[in-house]
Parts: sequence; structure tokens; C-alpha cells
Amino acid sequence: MRTHYCGTITSAQIDEEVTLYGWVDRRRDHGGVIFLDMRDREGIVQVVFDPDTEEHFQRADRVRSEYVLEIKGRVRARSDATINPNMLTGEIEILGKKLEILNSAATPPFQLDQHIEVGEDVRLKYRYIDLRRPEMLEKLKLRSRVTSSIRRFMDENGFLDIETPILTKATPEGARDYLVPSRTHEGKFFALPQSPQLFKQLLMVSGMDRYYQIAKCFRDEDLRADRQPEFTQIDIETSFMNDQQIMAITERMIQGLFKEVLDVDLGDFPHMPYAEAMSRFGSDKPDLRIPLELVDVDDLMRQVDFKVFNGPANDAKGRVAALKVTGGAQISRKQIDGYTKFVSIYGAKGLAWIKINDITAGIEGLQSPILKFMPEDIITQMMARLAVTDGDIVFFGADKTSIVNEALGALRVKVGEDQGLIKGDWAPLWVVDFPMFEENSEGNLTSLHHPFTAPACSPEALEKNPEQALSIAYDMVLNGTELGGGSVRIHQADMQQAVFRVLGISDEEAQEKFGFLLDALKYGAPPHGGLAFGLDRLVMLMTGAKSIRDVIAFPKTQSAACVMTDAPGLADNKQLRELNIRLREKPKAE
Ligand code: AMO
Ligand code: AMP
Repeated sequence: MRTHYCGTITSAQIDEEVTLYGWVDRRRDHGGVIFLDMRDREGIVQVVFDPDTEEHFQRADRVRSEYVLEIKGRVRARSDATINPNMLTGEIEILGKKLEILNSAATPPFQLDQHIEVGEDVRLKYRYIDLRRPEMLEKLKLRSRVTSSIRRFMDENGFLDIETPILTKATPEGARDYLVPSRTHEGKFFALPQSPQLFKQLLMVSGMDRYYQIAKCFRDEDLRADRQPEFTQIDIETSFMNDQQIMAITERMIQGLFKEVLDVDLGDFPHMPYAEAMSRFGSDKPDLRIPLELVDVDDLMRQVDFKVFNGPANDAKGRVAALKVTGGAQISRKQIDGYTKFVSIYGAKGLAWIKINDITAGIEGLQSPILKFMPEDIITQMMARLAVTDGDIVFFGADKTSIVNEALGALRVKVGEDQGLIKGDWAPLWVVDFPMFEENSEGNLTSLHHPFTAPACSPEALEKNPEQALSIAYDMVLNGTELGGGSVRIHQADMQQAVFRVLGISDEEAQEKFGFLLDALKYGAPPHGGLAFGLDRLVMLMTGAKSIRDVIAFPKTQSAACVMTDAPGLADNKQLRELNIRLREKPKAE
């Protein structure tokens, strides 16, 4: 039986006999004495074998990196000269007495201490080795502390942990579904849940009152650093609580979590209306650590002699906005060209700018490709509104509002990072008062959250003026990442039907897709609401990882595959026949 984990032994155990299990991190031969760095999940300890132990010394001589060993020995102090202050176990070593080789190991495909040079594909193919690296282990350990802290909070606050089905029907969270063919129902498919949304609402109808689940969700969508096709939500639903109460209790959970795991006080989270976030930061998940804001200049640009600006300025769906970067006049032409290319990703057709060299010199003191289009008094008014000083640069975006917001919103973050303007470590907030609907590229209204979100108005007002309707929804944002989101739900069938009508979902379609929910709303559904946090994103932020792949034990690649198991794989013909599936023949190569 193990007496200690390798990485936990300190001077407190001096003279104790210990039994350790682990892997050989490194083996060194120092002229007749063999040093083994033994590693397990808690860290590394140095073991010394000298020739007196004969057969065990011989074995120590044979072991190689990543062999699995059982070691028995005595803890002793290191001599002053050999103390390693960088190691937790650096004041001691184990004088080895017995060594059993439990398993040998082939040479690993990469050295565990040279991870930075290793491509992600190789790391993912040999993930079990990658996870032996202490920094990966630490991330998974922190993840485990996060879920245990959350479970404790939920438990203490009367939430019931209830599982919901994985083989189910489509949930409209906006992504494509992963489908699973049914063998017993020819031609029919299950969908994997994009979230437990509908089931958690039904649990409220059942009277469970407070539910939570650490739930796997599946979404077939384009992947990014903060998105995986299979991810985990901390999913929460409550009855008889309003939006303020739901935000308050989940804010307490996140504050408690940060205090417990990171010893960080997040303080109270400010609440910001969606419209304000879009106007000031061009984003519904603003990174408030960056002290840069967008300023509207539409009114000043209506008359200018530059179509690129006066067009959007005179268009109700257009926006002309400025982003002032204090001290940014040293940004070079080459960098500006880089930023122009950067905003083009978001559809911006250009990036106008003005550098303020000497404000007292009037127009002469400014440098810009667009001044020639503007009357002097407009420039003066604009400079006053932006409160510029010498050494500043101002960038401009003019286009459809959505393009300007996305382009300048992203530029704000990029310039903030490039110029080292980020202030503080943590900036949480709630974004509230979202619109109920947004227009998609085909000009149709779609739900900004999901169609079960309650509007802040009556069904009549909603149908009369859907574009203006706000929802009782809220997102928790941390450092520019949407950590979680939720809403108060519709709990009355007439309101739910009104929303479906606005979305152009016919009664038949609504009945076919969500009949079970509409039925449930008729049988005494309590007022209810909740939210879901992205666990992977939360842990990514808490560990400082660059990608959520680094906080998931076995993630998928950017192309939604697993290079280790080779999933997704082919199905054999027998299986396909049982499922009544015939694959379409591939079009012949030209
Ligand atoms: P939503 O779709 O906003 O809401 O998801 C909630 C949170 O889940 C995380 N998330 C993801 N994380 C990793 N990879 C993904 N592909 C991914 N998609 C979402 C985000 C997000 O904030 N049922 C509602 C919640 C509710 O209304 O209660 C829902 O799923 O952190
Ligand atoms: P041009 O006259 O086309 O060379 O444009 C003059 C300046 O306006 C250049 O700096 C362009 O990058 C910039 N510009 C062009 N289109 C836009 C736009 N939609 N929004 C902001 N700046 C733009």
C-alpha cells in the first residue's frame, strides 16, 4: 500500500519508511550512485540507490524514463549543498531500499519536459502521456476542485442534482444537432442535447423547485478556442425566483468559487444593459479590463463630403463610431495596415484614423487620410467630443451597425492587448435587457437566446412590436468571455405561442417540435428561470489556459475529430443495414 504521494514528502517525514508508486521522470547515474526522480500525480521526489542494496541497485540501473515502479525506502535530509529550493520535496530525498519494476515503458513519443515544441496533434494523439505533464495535471485538478466547490454550493442551497436524457429530441440553442439513428424506429433519429433546457423546465413543472446538473452538451458548430462540439455546462433552474434573485444566487456561487479556489475577491458584479454594452464596447461580452470605448459620431458625419461616412450616418441601421486610443499616435502605418486587415475579417471595408500631433495647431496639428472630406468646425466638434490630447490616435468605423460593432469591438480588444492597456486581473459583469429577437441574414427574426425566454412585455405588445421587445435574460461575462447565460422562462402557453408566431413557427410545427412543453405549460407550470455556465470556459479562465482544449481531458480537434481514437469512424455494412441507412455514393472525381 502507498504511504505517501511522491510530491508530498517533506522534512516532516524524515526517518520514516515510505512506500511510493509512480513513474520514472529522470534517471541519473552519478558514479556508482543512481538517482531516480519519481513522479506521480502530486509531484516529484528524488530517490537514491547505492550499490549496498545489490539486486535493487541492479534494477535501478535498468530502469528508463516512464517505467512504473514500486519503491520502498527511508526519508532523509539532503546535505545543504544539494537542497533544491525550487522543489516542494527539495529538502529531502528517499534512500531506496527496495525497487519493483511494475512495468516497463517504450520511449515516449515526446519528452514530457519539452512540451512546448510538440504540435497539438501529437499531444492529442498521445493524450494519456500529455496529461502526465504537471501543467496539464494541474488544470484537471483545478477543474475537479471547481466542480466539487460548485456541487457543495448547490447542495447547501437546496438544489437537486438530476440527470436528463442524452438520447432526445432537438433543442433549439441555435447550433446544428448531432443525430443518432434509431434501429427500432426505422428512418427516425434521436438528437443529442444542445443543452438540458427543455427537461430542466419540465422538472420545474414537476415541482423539483431547484435543479442543477453538470451536464454534457453537444453542438455541431464551427469551433474556436472557446468552443468544443462536446462541452460541459453547470446547468441550473429554479422556480419562484425572479431574474434579480437568480443573478444574485449564481453570482454568490461564482464569487465563492473564486475565493475558495484562487483566493480572489471578485466583488459585486455591475449590471449593464445590452444596448449600453453594444454602444460603448461594440460587444455583448465586453472586456472591462480594457479602458477604451466607442463614441458615436453619426450626427457630425451626416453632412460630410465622404459617402463612406455620410451613408451609414444617415441610415437608421448604420453607425459611425470612433475609438480613441490614448497615447496611440506612435502606432506605425504598418501597424495601421495590419489593423485594417484585422477589421476586414469582420466585414469592415476600411479603417479611417486621425493622429493628434499638436491639438493647439488646429487642423495642421492632425494627420489623417480623411480630414480632406470634413469641414473644420466638424473636426473641432469631434475632437472636443472625443476629448483628445496630443499623442492620441482615433480610429473610425462606418458601416451597418452590426459590422461597426463587431469590427471596432474586436479592434478595441486587440489594440488594448497590443498596447498593454489591460488593467486588473478580473472584470466580471452581468449583461441584461437583451432584445428578444435579432434579424438574421435573410431578414427573418430569430431568438437572441432561445424561444423559451420570457419577454419583459405582454404577448400583445410583443406581437405588435417584436423588434423593440426586451427579454428577461442575463449573461455573466468575465474578461470578455461569456461565462454563462440564462433567463426567466415563459410559463404560460399563450405567451409561448405568441413567441412562436413572431418566429414564424406554425402551430403545427410548434406542436410537432415542442408539443410536450406546450402541454406541460397547461398543467400548472410555476414561474421559473435559470441559467447555464460553460464549465470549460470557466476553468479555462481560472487556469489562464489559452484554449478550452487544455482543460478537457480528451478534447476534439478544431475539425471536431479525436485523433487518438480516430473518431468519428466508419460504420460497417451490417450496422448500417440494421439502422436502415444506405450511404450515398460519393460523386465520382472529375
Ligand atoms: P447558452 O447557449 O448560452 O445557453 O450556453 C450556456 C453557456 O455554455 C457555454 N457554451 C459553450 N462552451 C463550450 N463550447 C461550446 N460550443 C459552447 N456553447 C456554449 C458558454 C455559454 O455561456 N440552455 C441555455 C441556458 C439557460 O437559458 O439556462 C444555454 O444553453 O459559456
Ligand atoms: P479611401 O478614400 O477609400 O482611401 O478611404 C479613406 C480612408 O477611409 C482610409 O483610411 C480607409 O481605410 C477609410 N475607410 C474606408 N471605408 C471605411 C469604412 N467603412 N469605415 C471606416 N473607415 C473606412
